[in-house]
Amino acid sequence: MTPVTRTGDIRIESFLSDTDERSLANDVLDGLTRPFKEIPPKHFYDARGSELFERICELPEYYPTRAERAILLARADSIVRRTGAGELVELGSGSAEKARILLGAMSRAGTLRRYVPLDVSESALEAAAQELVEEFDELEVHGVVGDFERHLGHVPAPDGVGRVDGVGGARIIALLGGTIGNFLPGTRRRLLREIGRLLGPRDRLLLGTDLVKNPAVIEAAYDDAEGVTAEFNRNVLHVINRELGADFSPEAFEHIAFFDRRHEWIEMRLRSQRPCTVLVGDLGLRVDFAAGEELRTEISAKFTRPRVEEDFHAAGLELDTWYTDPDELFALSLAARA
Ligand SMILES: C[S@@+](CC[C@H](N)C(=O)[O-])C[C@H]1O[C@@H](n2cnc3c(N)ncnc32)[C@H](O)[C@@H]1O
Repeated sequence: MTPVTRTGDIRIESFLSDTDERSLANDVLDGLTRPFKEIPPKHFYDARGSELFERICELPEYYPTRAERAILLARADSIVRRTGAGELVELGSGSAEKARILLGAMSRAGTLRRYVPLDVSESALEAAAQELVEEFDELEVHGVVGDFERHLGHVPAPDGVGRVDGVGGARIIALLGGTIGNFLPGTRRRLLREIGRLLGPRDRLLLGTDLVKNPAVIEAAYDDAEGVTAEFNRNVLHVINRELGADFSPEAFEHIAFFDRRHEWIEMRLRSQRPCTVLVGDLGLRVDFAAGEELRTEISAKFTRPRVEEDFHAAGLELDTWYTDPDELFALSLAARA
């Protein structure tokens, strides 16, 4: 049974519960028993991880949020005019700071009806929903606490479909913040194809992608002077300790971020500073780390316009409009089903 919370204009459904723990357990079992250890980045985001990510977005070195926000501020009205959308589905919505800009444009256009945030972080989703219904009188929020790799089938059908006056229906499905870059190329295209299946003829995907640029600028964004990104990176070890009864000493792991020029992606890793054995109690698993051994916790691919177009093509989508900031740091693509 799916827990449903409903207050006024907010409805939140959760699909995580014990399946979430299973997904972390599977990823830990799979990722820590490989020759090259790896944990997928979605496990950063418990309540503390989401808060740390919000702090990262404010850091002087972390340009992606500011650049993407600037594009949205400049283009949200034209995106809404172009699509006629009154509904925003946002995958990996986080604090919904960027959604607010699009919802404001829908409100100004008189089309605003519904926001459908989907995120693994229940705390972030609830806080965002509450703030948004207070800000926009006409707004309904239908939140989905879930994993966009597994729960896209639970995204509710478009609001207003079948209305005889023809109003409603068109929606924007957004994946912002460069989150698509967290996936290896094959998985990325599969995910885009699955998202594409949600698109009706008038719907559009709005995809945020960080762009290839001077590696020093990218590396600084993932290794800030204050050490917030290092804390965020180590948070995944706190999550595994709490959720799976493990005994990592997070402070014994050093934060590493480097730009891989061949793949044009940034990698975040945690490097064990001394040899250690970690026990993951709930899995009965012992994991040895050699001194200097690294655990990969995130890749974040950087894009060019041709790369985005190739990914769309492979996923049965086509680019409709490409928006970027004056310094070409970040891009937003509006895409349709091909
Ligand atoms: C990099 S943050 C971006 C947040 C926000 N969209 C932005 O642009 O600032 C990634 C967000 O996606 C969520 N997330 C990551 N992987 C996810 C997954 N597989 N399913 C659902 N949400 C996910 C995280 O909880 C987090 O809120």
